[in-house]
Amino acid sequence: MIIAIDGPSGAGKSTIARRVGEELGLFVLDTGAMYRSVALEVLRQQVDPNDSEAVAQVARRIELHFDGDGRITVNGKCVAQEIRSEQVESIVSVVAANPLVRRAMVPKQKLVAEEQGGVVAEGRDMTTVVFADSRFRFYLDASAEVRAQRRAQQRGTPEKAPEIQLALEARDRIDSGREDSPLHLAQGVRHIDTDNQSAEDVVSEILGHVRSGVG
Ligand code: DC
Repeated sequence: MIIAIDGPSGAGKSTIARRVGEELGLFVLDTGAMYRSVALEVLRQQVDPNDSEAVAQVARRIELHFDGDGRITVNGKCVAQEIRSEQVESIVSVVAANPLVRRAMVPKQKLVAEEQGGVVAEGRDMTTVVFADSRFRFYLDASAEVRAQRRAQQRGTPEKAPEIQLALEARDRIDSGREDSPLHLAQGVRHIDTDNQSAEDVVSEILGHVRSGVG
């Protein structure tokens, strides 16, 4: 079984995917972590993020794996923490917009789904490209304001919400405006507006659809 979850940054994809995965006993595939790991390697190797061929080389060679807990490793070392840094954040959209990088990542994502015998997969092109055939596809949405407020709360800095909102909007523009696999709501994908819903509500809604067998 593959449950594909798409949506903009801060819409709650990771939290929801994790909880749905726990409920159904499915591996949670965080594909954003894969693009972040490539970005981390690009920084480490001091490659110019705009040099698409050099970045693609990094993506082709990177030894990416997930451990039993779903945490990402590069060359056998867990990088779950490092990939959340501001430096990584600042270049990851450019790295993820590189079609050569996507070409290297998508087969890895499909392989993980196969090896695990099913996944909850979250990321910007899960419903539109990578698992476009899946019966269970969801697009989690929320206004930029609400998304920024949630992020600011998570970080313990509620006063930074306006600043975070600007950064989120900038990333939305790159993720939605790129040529290759842009973020968008595709036909047949269930749109869930989470502005006024708790995580529990959203998880129940998704589980309801999955358990009834209707996406
Ligand atoms: O979901 P996230 O913030 O961890 O994603 C990091 C970046 O990677 C973000 O710019 C969107 C991009 N991404 C992507 O292009 N395709 C995916 N399947 C997952 C993430």
